[in-house]
Amino acid sequence: MQKITKAIIPVAGLGTRFLPATKAMPKEMLPVVDKPVVQYLVEEVVASGITEIIFVTGRGKRAIEDHFDVSYELEDTLVEENKKDLLKAVRNISSLAKFSYVRQPLPLGDGHAILQAAHLVGNEPVLIIFGDCIYDSHTPASKQLIDAHDHYGHSIIGLSTVPRNQLSKFGVYGGPKIAPDILRIERVVEKPKPEKAPSNLVAVGKYIITPDVFRVLFKITKPRSGEFRLIDAFDHMLSRKEHIYGKILEGTWLDTGDKLNFIKATIHFGLKHPEIKRGLKSYLKKKL
Ligand code: UTP
Repeated sequence: MQKITKAIIPVAGLGTRFLPATKAMPKEMLPVVDKPVVQYLVEEVVASGITEIIFVTGRGKRAIEDHFDVSYELEDTLVEENKKDLLKAVRNISSLAKFSYVRQPLPLGDGHAILQAAHLVGNEPVLIIFGDCIYDSHTPASKQLIDAHDHYGHSIIGLSTVPRNQLSKFGVYGGPKIAPDILRIERVVEKPKPEKAPSNLVAVGKYIITPDVFRVLFKITKPRSGEFRLIDAFDHMLSRKEHIYGKILEGTWLDTGDKLNFIKATIHFGLKHPEIKRGLKSYLKKKL
């Protein structure tokens, strides 16, 4: 089995659910307590053994590159002011992994974004992490996917259970369980009515994809929804009875791409943060 060392993080979407906050600022840079969302993601993949991270960026996303770059002026100031802890935190960011950046000229869909990085991946499986999906778990979510891939091979889709009445917001995957946390996927339905859904398991925006997924994505010329989507490549492969597995992820899914869940993520991590947890807890108690 080929070792997975690379991750693609597509961050070129428009973040329309967060307008006007995301008019001039990437939604991936919104802070959850004191770190931008994208730093949680990078820390997760690095803790999972990934050494190369490829961002697919677009217009207005330069702040992400700056965040993972060295910041001489800031570091000098922190040295002068003897702020050792902050200096360590800031320096650590740029040395987390080897970062590359490719541009998606137009936001034509997540599948199209991933294709922009295909030439940097080569003929090997790669981890894909969408820019708004934080998972707080004992074993990093990306590591859970890598372990599943090591065991079963093929592409692996990170899944989470959601209440039936929310299924119509997601891509829903169904198929027989071959282990308590593993599905052999047979069907996928994008945003189904609850009664038409093949299960209550939805993709959370974390995947291992094998080179054949790139090959299928390259062949899609007329996307059904107007956007080139990763889900369409999976749908095509399932129709040809190709093997794809689903891994039900252990942990708490914090989807920072929409307003309510973003606030939940902030409270979730705020209640764990040594500096603010007491103050936040007493504020919430008073408020409720
Ligand atoms: P989303 O649809 O969740 O993000 O895409 P979005 O498009 O930024 O947000 P909304 O729906 O308008 O509020 C999933 C992931 O794919 C990336 C996004 O940045 C996000 O990380 N993406 C999506 C691209 O990189 N390019 C695209 O064309 C579309």
